Amino acid sequence: MTRTVTTGTVAVVTGAASGIGRATALRLARGGYEVAMMDLDVAGLAETGTRIQQAGGLAHPFTVDLCDPLAVGSVTREIAVTVGAPEVLVNVAGIGLAANVLETSDADWNRVMSVNLTGPFLTIRATLPLMLDRGSGVIINIASVGGQVGLARRAAYCASKAGLVGLTRAVAVDHARAGIRSVAICPGTVETEWIGKILANAPEPAAARAAMASRQLDGRMGAPDEIAAMVAFLAGPEGRFVNGAALVLDGGMTAGTDQG
Ligand SMILES: NC(=O)c1ccc[n+]([C@@H]2O[C@H](COP(=O)([O-])OP(=O)(O)OC[C@H]3O[C@@H](n4cnc5c(N)ncnc54)[C@H](O)[C@@H]3O)[C@@H](O)[C@H]2O)c1
Repeated sequence: MTRTVTTGTVAVVTGAASGIGRATALRLARGGYEVAMMDLDVAGLAETGTRIQQAGGLAHPFTVDLCDPLAVGSVTREIAVTVGAPEVLVNVAGIGLAANVLETSDADWNRVMSVNLTGPFLTIRATLPLMLDRGSGVIINIASVGGQVGLARRAAYCASKAGLVGLTRAVAVDHARAGIRSVAICPGTVETEWIGKILANAPEPAAARAAMASRQLDGRMGAPDEIAAMVAFLAGPEGRFVNGAALVLDGGMTAGTDQG
């Protein structure tokens, strides 16, 4: 990937210690962004940082629980002072929960909402003023196909991701005329550490893997870098006409059925 931005252009990526967040941090760094990485997972952040360094990029790890308003506020201020005001914010961190409504405890509901929806609200609220000061900024939220259609035994997850799509559009409506773009990406199944853990715990991992792959019309799971590539496109000048959209990247998973 060639450099697409001027030196010192800062991108913040949450969930950068693993999966889609790691691939996004790596891709943006390769594109010339200086990347501030937020995550809870110290070792994972260090590993992403090493990979970025080996690729000749610049990355800065920030250990933070994205559900903690005070911590998100203070880390964002620290990033602005020590790295620079972000041009791009990518909200990737998220958690899943395999449960229908009847199986979902209050604590589980609140935890999923807190990480998947309140977390992005907090990072956006902390970062927007810095973007508005400069008159430009791009916010990209990783939602899910679960924010577009219902997925079996994913009640809280689907609700949180539909909420994130709504938040994405509301931010675009409120701030587009001030130079802000806000876009959601809704991936289908992407082969990350998260999916690896689900498969490892399945009674028959090989069968579970085949079933997961076959949910996509393409018959395979996506790769984290296929999501990261869209992030890079949206963040850069070629993405400048995309605002308030929810882009589905799912190998045809939600296109319809080809089973008669
Ligand atoms: N993998 C998929 O199939 C898939 C499909 C659709 C959407 N998504 C979405 O993409 C995003 C990334 O998924 P992934 O598969 O890369 O997951 P992952 O589990 O590999 O990575 C998620 C990262 O978020 C971090 N995180 C979780 N809670 C946090 C918190 N409170 N504070 C700070 N960091 C926290 C984790 O430490 C981890 O590094 C999620 O929002 C997920 O909902 C994933």
